[in-house]
Amino acid sequence: MSDWDLLLTDAKIATMQEGGDEYGVIEDGAIAISGGKIAWVGKASLLPGGSAAETGSCENKWLSPALIDCHTHLVFGGDRAAEFEQRLKGVSYEAIARSGGGILSTVRATREASSDQLFDAAMPRLMAIRDSGAATVEIKSGYGLDIETEIRMLEVARRLGESTDISVRATLLAAHAVPPDYKDSPDKYIELVCNELIPAVAERGLADALDAYLENIAFDKQQVTRVFDAARTHGLPVKLHADQLTDGGGAALAARFGALSADHLEFSSADGVAEMAANKTVAVLLPGAFVTLGETQRPPVNGLRRHQVPIAVATDCNPGTSPLTSVREAMALACRLFQLTPAECLAGTTRNAARALGLDDRGVIAAGKRADLALWDISHPRDLSYWLGEQPLASLFIEGHAVSLN
Ligand code: NIG
Ligand code: FE
Repeated sequence: MSDWDLLLTDAKIATMQEGGDEYGVIEDGAIAISGGKIAWVGKASLLPGGSAAETGSCENKWLSPALIDCHTHLVFGGDRAAEFEQRLKGVSYEAIARSGGGILSTVRATREASSDQLFDAAMPRLMAIRDSGAATVEIKSGYGLDIETEIRMLEVARRLGESTDISVRATLLAAHAVPPDYKDSPDKYIELVCNELIPAVAERGLADALDAYLENIAFDKQQVTRVFDAARTHGLPVKLHADQLTDGGGAALAARFGALSADHLEFSSADGVAEMAANKTVAVLLPGAFVTLGETQRPPVNGLRRHQVPIAVATDCNPGTSPLTSVREAMALACRLFQLTPAECLAGTTRNAARALGLDDRGVIAAGKRADLALWDISHPRDLSYWLGEQPLASLFIEGHAVSLN
């Protein structure tokens, strides 16, 4: 019996552990893996004696924690390329939404699609995100907006996790838009979500968290509060699409519920940011949606830094506002659009993305954590946010196993 399943040597390691330099660098590093977890990490010269079933050289490439995409809507029917074109001709996102397009056009296509069709359409998007370096991907429902289709979306998300090596976290986003069938009685829809959908999803363990969209084209504070209360009753942690297009007080509302994260945040106030800090709510920034919508108001990055709110970055992969399937491109965009530093971006797609999902078993390279590791053909971790369109991933390990990339 060997002490370790795998020993990786000759690595430069960006552990992303807090406390040292901003990347937590170990030069001349080695990592021992056992049972899918990191058994030991450090300078190779300090490696304790032990035998490994398999040994591999990283050839001086860089190892980082595998990336984590903590905000996606990658299960959906159809696409919205025609709306993208319309918007470029001057029609606004809100105007399209109000005339029955936008999220609702994806709802129609999603309801019409079979579960197999949804699965088959989502798989290449999931593979593309994985091949950008991600081992953990969150997937939201929210294009069903009825009990049957919301449940089907979550089932498809679970099946995507079971059929791949990727760790999928499923989020119930039933309060994403007012369904057409409840146009004049949104509160009735909220009632259905609280009284029937949330209990059914919780009972079947179909979701790991609950999300909602607080916005003048979606739900108001009172409605979100009702949904969050129901989530709390059923033991589901919450997160919120907050202050994306207007300041709806979303950051503060999410924080007061102890939300794992508040996402978007372009219009969040200083008070909202302070409440997030007080409640340890992660700020998830979504540059793909910002750039696709041609937004100009940036999230309050300096305020988040000043209050030491952990910042995560994600693709927001969705057909309407962020047809983006690369976590690394999301990092590259966050630098350019939000002036995040490359180190903030890497923390935002590892350590802080794990926090945004309530996961403390991954996101940094340290003994006891999952052996989810990305090996990069780069000369420094900052390169991950520098290049646009490159594919520097050399290998991806999920729970200690090398994944074959597409
Ligand atoms: O994160 N903001 C709401 N939800 C998505 C957009 C979904 C859509 O337009 O289909 C977002 O940007
Ligand atoms: Fe989103």
